[in-house]
Amino acid sequence: MGSQLRAIKVTENVYWVGAIDWALRDFHGYSTNRGTTYNAFLILADKITLIDTVKHHFQDELLARISSMVKPQDIDIIISNHAEMDHSGCLPQIIKYVQPSKVYASVRGKQALAEHFRRKPHLSIVEVVKSGDTINLGNLTLQFLETPMLHWPDSMFSYLVEEKLLFSQDAFGMHLATGKRFADQIADEILEYEAAKYYANILLPYSKLITKLLGKVSSLGLEFDIIAPDHGPIWRSNVNKIISLYARWAEQKPTPRIIITYDTMWQSTALMARAIANGAIDQGVSVKVMPLSANHRSDIATELLNAAALVVGSPTINNNIFPTIADLFCYIRGLKRKNLCGFAFGSYGWSGESIKQVEESLKTMGVEITGECIKAKYVPDEQVLEKCYNQGEDLAKKIKNICV
Ligand code: FEO
Repeated sequence: MGSQLRAIKVTENVYWVGAIDWALRDFHGYSTNRGTTYNAFLILADKITLIDTVKHHFQDELLARISSMVKPQDIDIIISNHAEMDHSGCLPQIIKYVQPSKVYASVRGKQALAEHFRRKPHLSIVEVVKSGDTINLGNLTLQFLETPMLHWPDSMFSYLVEEKLLFSQDAFGMHLATGKRFADQIADEILEYEAAKYYANILLPYSKLITKLLGKVSSLGLEFDIIAPDHGPIWRSNVNKIISLYARWAEQKPTPRIIITYDTMWQSTALMARAIANGAIDQGVSVKVMPLSANHRSDIATELLNAAALVVGSPTINNNIFPTIADLFCYIRGLKRKNLCGFAFGSYGWSGESIKQVEESLKTMGVEITGECIKAKYVPDEQVLEKCYNQGEDLAKKIKNICV
């Protein structure tokens, strides 16, 4: 692989040298329908610097793009902003090949790299930087800010002071494979959806830390002309757009929107879902019905980002919750979405344990239960469907009050 792969200019001194993963469809349980990119950046300072690397099997693509600008062995410094292997997977091989004079990571980054690449002695070269530390690249300066849990304990930002350019690793990124490298070249609708999906599925549990971090950035007076994340497009105009979206998502403020999700064996739980939806729709709130046969767990997590309510239905199978519903709860519980209300429903044949199990799972997630469990034996009759409709209406009225 080689000469057709080129670095893409970001500024006079900074080039994108990452890799495009058009084929990726699953990122540890998150459906990446549009693929992703692993972004790495070359700073052509007096001391040539590489920011992050790429997933291990994209090493040749990284080296080819670097080689379109400089000899890889001319790189003086490598920065590892984040140890997760989509960014560090080929770091040991790149260090061995490039032989840089310095490699920097956060304290936890150095430790995490050592724990990932246990038999790679060349990683002993890694030195530690802390928040506020700077390194002199000759004509340019890099400053560091540790951002623990954004996305891992080791994560840090690197800031190219003279260009007001933030290398933000996972933060402000998205899984989006495209031939375009800049956000202003991509439709807003795609950008907002994929950025929200990334936030909802990767960063949501750390929302409190994000609010704190945004406050810290503001108190430090840091200004950004460009934000260059490790996934998806680079923000080079209106960077405040993505910062404001993060501030809003981190608040987890509910909006008048109800997500109804379910699985069904013989369409009875589906009938109930539609009756609940109709009651809520007739109250004028936004409703999205997301059967698990047609929606991935990570798409439901995305829709919950701006919702006020989650209503979940499961049939009972062998005295238990339906497997797809268990999978959904396992996934979204960990995302720790706050400020939701809702209730459980479902059909059953003879025992009906699943409906209570769904309610318990909702409670475990911290969802405020707003109505009793609704159960239908075999096929819901008119009375049950009316109850579903009424409970949908009641939920809609409640969230209209919450969201004023
Ligand atoms: Fe893109 Fe947390 O790795």
